[in-house]
Amino acid sequence: MILRDMAEADLDAVLRIEREVHSHPWTRGNFSDALRSKYQCKVYESETEGMLGYAVLMLAVDEAELLDIAIAAQQQRHGRGRKLLEEMMVLARRHGMGRVVLEVRASNTAAIGLYRKAGFADIGLRRDYYQAENGREDAILMGREL
Ligand SMILES: CC(C)(COP(=O)(O)OP(=O)(O)OC[C@H]1O[C@@H](n2cnc3c(N)ncnc32)[C@H](O)[C@@H]1OP(=O)(O)O)[C@@H](O)C(=O)NCCC(=O)NCCS
Repeated sequence: MILRDMAEADLDAVLRIEREVHSHPWTRGNFSDALRSKYQCKVYESETEGMLGYAVLMLAVDEAELLDIAIAAQQQRHGRGRKLLEEMMVLARRHGMGRVVLEVRASNTAAIGLYRKAGFADIGLRRDYYQAENGREDAILMGREL
C-alpha cells in the first residue's frame, strides 16, 4: 500500500470514487482548489488494485482539519479507511500539529464509527449545517489530540 501526493492527473479517478461514495460529492474545482492551496492531498493505492482511496488534510498553525477521506466502494470494510486515517494522523503529527479536527454528517454512521474507533471524540454540533436529501442535516464536530 502506498500513500502519495495527489496530482491534477489523478482527478478523473478521484472524482469517480468521490461521486460513487459521497451523497454530496466535491467537484473537480474543489479538488483543484485544495491542490492549489497546498493542502495535504494524498492518494492511497495498491500496486495491484490501483487507487483505493484518498484524503485531504488542511494544516493550520497547530491544528489540522481533515476535509475529505474516502475509500472506493468495492474496497470498503477491509480496514483501509482506518489505515488511511492513521497515515493522515502521522502526517499531521510530522508537520507539528497538536490536534486533528473534522466535521461529519450526523447520518454518516460509517465515518462516525471509523473516527470513534480511531480515538476521535465529539467536540461540538453545528445544527442544520449540511444540505440533505430532505432539507438540512447536522454536522458533528470531532477531534483527536495527537
Ligand atoms: C468512512 C470510510 C472512509 C470507511 O472506510 P472503510 O475502509 O470501509 O473503513 P474500515 O474498513 O477501515 O472500517 C473501520 C471502522 O469504521 C466503521 N465502519 C466502516 N464502515 C462502516 C459501515 N458501513 N457501517 C458502520 N460502521 C462502519 C467501523 O467501526 C469499522 O471498524 P470495524 O471494521 O472493526 O467494525 C468509507 O465508508 C467511505 O469512503 N465512506 C464514504 C466517504 C465518507 O463518508 N467519508 C467521510 C466524510 S466525513
